Order: sequence, then structure tokens, then C-alpha cells
Amino acid sequence: MKKIAVFTAITLLLPVLLAGCGSSVIKEENKVETVSEELLTVGFSQLGAESDWRNTNTVSMQEALSKENGFNLVYKNGQQKQANQITAVRMFIQQGVDYIVLAPATETGWDIVLAEARDANIPVILVDRRVDVSDKGLYSCWVGSDFELESKKVTAWLKAFSDRRNISPENIHIVNIQGSIGSTAQIGRTRGLANAAREYGWDLLTEASGDFTENKGREVMAALLKGHDNINVVYCENDNMAIGAIDAIESAGRKVGPNILNGDIMVVSFDGVNEQSLDYCREGKISCIAECNPLHGPRVRALIEALQAGETPEKFNYVDERIFSSLDIVDNISVDGITYDVEEP
Ligand code: AHR
Repeated sequence: MKKIAVFTAITLLLPVLLAGCGSSVIKEENKVETVSEELLTVGFSQLGAESDWRNTNTVSMQEALSKENGFNLVYKNGQQKQANQITAVRMFIQQGVDYIVLAPATETGWDIVLAEARDANIPVILVDRRVDVSDKGLYSCWVGSDFELESKKVTAWLKAFSDRRNISPENIHIVNIQGSIGSTAQIGRTRGLANAAREYGWDLLTEASGDFTENKGREVMAALLKGHDNINVVYCENDNMAIGAIDAIESAGRKVGPNILNGDIMVVSFDGVNEQSLDYCREGKISCIAECNPLHGPRVRALIEALQAGETPEKFNYVDERIFSSLDIVDNISVDGITYDVEEP
């Protein structure tokens, strides 16, 4: 078994670090080079570069799985297409990498290629999103966010906000700009909103996918405004789409903000990575953001080190995340019996 040059014991669930990585640069996709026997070769199939969250996640992986840390990282960008990712995984298998790290675009359709990796005795670590496979033994472990919990936090915040402002549920008219359909982040966040709308009696007008990108968020919001004249809450399944949606709302001559009984359109969102969205949250243009933490590089490194040491890491490794709002109206929320402070962005 190859040795890792530098072994650092890292607790899997590190305390949450504030995301934010504007200055880091994603390195070019690289090819397998002649590498020292001391390095572990890891094939990383990243799903794309659709958002600031994604780019920060890629940089975190590249920094953690660096040569200095004992790794030869082969990075492939799937351009948001599962077919590209399947090709990348097959290429990693052919190259005989030591580990495959997969950030899957969508949940279904992975059984065959993951079985090929298992047949080749290459352990697979999932990062961020999950796969829906009949045999969970097809991957070693997963690290990422509880996307439905993130949604429960945002909807608990909206419920507390509307109670305190005496806004009755039938006066809350929501549209959901969804992420990429079939991805774990979309599934969890969409489900959380649908459940809350049913439970609290909110008017969930419609849902449409903006594919997690700013441009599509803008496009979808402009179309929604044309189709519905009573929208007063926009639930965006990530910050990049929220930035695009805010642009569309303002271009249509409407005001973004929390005074929804007086004509404002409230925007709530997810991630807390992009500086512009955090500024919008400070200004009250985005009323609430549930953090989605992208800094998985050190966690994946710790999982590989555990596997190298012959250990069996936990199958599912969740990261802790926070909730942000600058509106001085809800101090904390309670979800599934746990209280979360609402923090300044
Ligand atoms: O899967 C995580 C999600 O994917 C992030 O919320 C989003 O910004 C990204 O594109």
C-alpha cells in the first residue's frame, strides 16, 4: 500500500469554517503524469462550475489533495452532464487511480459505472450530492450537507417572520426557483418547501428550475413575474440564482425586501458563499440564507487517510451549517428539536 507523505489526523466533522474563497483559482484539468510512488492518485469527477459554491468546493478539494499533502489529483469537470462524469469515472478506472471522488450531478443512473469501479477495487468517495443506487456498498462513504434540513431552517425562519409581522399564511405567495432537477440539493430543498407550504397553509404558486446558475435564475424570474402578479416570496435554491432573480425583479420595476404586504418581493436563498449574496443579505435584499458549506477538501482527505489506515469511516458524514439574516426580527429558530441562532451574514 502506498504511503501518504504527510498524515494529519483531522476530525471528520471539523467545526464549520465560514465559506468564502473569492481569490482562489481552479487549476486546469490535469492528466495523470508520471508521479512518485509515494503519491496517492485520486480521480475527482466534479459535476461542473455552475456556481460560486461549486468553484469554492473545487478549490477546497485541490488544496487538500495537493502534491504537498501526498496526492496526485486528477480533476475532471463534468460540465453539469452526468454522461461526462460517467466517462471521467471510466477513464479513472482505466488509469488505475487509487481512489475516485465523485460529486454527482444527479442521483440516479450510477449503478453500472460504480459497479465497474468496485470490480476494479477502486474505492469511491461521494462528495456533496448523493447517488440513488440499489447497493450502498458501491461506494465507501459520503460527505456533504443535509439539504432538507437547510430548507427546514429557511421555512422555519419564514414562519417565525410572518408570525411576528402578523402576515397570514394565505397572504404568502411563493415561487420556487429550483436547482438542477434530480440533484440531491434540489430534491431536499424542494421537498422542504413543499412540506412547509402544506403544513403552514402558504400559497406555493409554482416551481421552475434555474439549474443553479445566475443567468437561468434571471430568465426564470422574469418569466414568473409575467405569469403571476401576486408573487411576494421567491425561494431560490441557491445564491447565484437569487442574484439573477433580484436583477430580474428590479428590472421589472419591483422592490426586493421584507415588506411583503406593502409591495416588496422577499428573496430567501441557500449557500452563503458568494460575497455579493452576503452583501445582499446585509442590505436586506436577501432576507435569509441557509448556509451550505463547500469546504469538503479536508474532510475528503481525512476519509482517504482513514481508508488508507484500514479503518471503516462512517458511511454518511454531515457537515454543520448556519443560518443568516440581518433583519432584526427572528433571533433563533427551532428545527427537529434543535435551536439554531440566526446569525449576522
Ligand atoms: O449541491 C450543492 C449545491 O450545488 C449548491 O447549493 C449550489 O450552489 C451548487 O451548485
